[in-house]
Amino acid sequence: MAESLKQHQLGLFGHPVKHSQSPQIHQGFAAQFGIDLTYVLIDASPAELPSQFKVWIPTAHGCNVTVPHKTHIMPLLDHHTERAHQCQAVNTVFWRDGELWGDNTDGDGLVLDLQAKGIHLSGMKVLIIGAGGATQGIIPSLLEQGVTDIEIQNRSHDKANQLAAQFNYDRVATAGPKMHSPYDLIIHATSMGHQGLSPELKEHWFHPNTIAYDLSYGNAAQPFLATAQACGAQQVHDGLGMLYGQAALAFEIWFGQRPAVILTQ
Ligand code: ATR
Repeated sequence: MAESLKQHQLGLFGHPVKHSQSPQIHQGFAAQFGIDLTYVLIDASPAELPSQFKVWIPTAHGCNVTVPHKTHIMPLLDHHTERAHQCQAVNTVFWRDGELWGDNTDGDGLVLDLQAKGIHLSGMKVLIIGAGGATQGIIPSLLEQGVTDIEIQNRSHDKANQLAAQFNYDRVATAGPKMHSPYDLIIHATSMGHQGLSPELKEHWFHPNTIAYDLSYGNAAQPFLATAQACGAQQVHDGLGMLYGQAALAFEIWFGQRPAVILTQ
């Protein structure tokens, strides 16, 4: 059957997953190329993930993986790309020569969105607030883009220290008394926004051109972005563009063509 006539089965494994925008995003991308795909949401608890994945994936073209499975999916795959290995997390699964690969497009999706907004990371001093999986997923891409410093600030200092040590670069450190503020870019990567909360921010972290970016989007991004504006940030962005960016890069892995990203919200 011609590739363009074949129906491609894709999906997203997560828990919870029902509010995901990924089906609409990928249908929009597929329409740009006349590709026929179905994209289903698969809610699997961590205990259910291995059996559900093994049953579903053999007839699928690939899948995305989201919280809380990005690390737990790794032992279920044959290979990981270098960037997935660096992040210790996978968000995109694909087949190559009958074997399953895991990649991670989150960090490069963020870079893609920043570039689309005219923001270039080379030479920037970056503060990341939060030290969970979201932070781990973006650090390799930020380093690759040539940021000069990344400081990680987190409620649990131990977790921030562990993460900084994991990257073992001179350019990644835990934010402390010697913080290199002000920063060029402040990224919010905790889950606090989903509780309507913002981390505390200091005015001296901001200079007139400091950009504030929340990896969450919609209402969950608002507390941090409002706090950043109160501290003087003139350029604030939520993570909707990153969501589209990581999806566009996943689509390119599956179909060999990079879709145009048109933000609809
Ligand atoms: P994910 O993998 O999605 O990033 P996670 O690993 O649970 O999720 O990490 C969530 C991040 O949000 C962590 O940095 C967490 O801080 P701790 O490492 O100290 O737990 C942070 N976080 C969540 N709720 C928070 C709160 N109420 N105040 C401060 N930090 C919070």
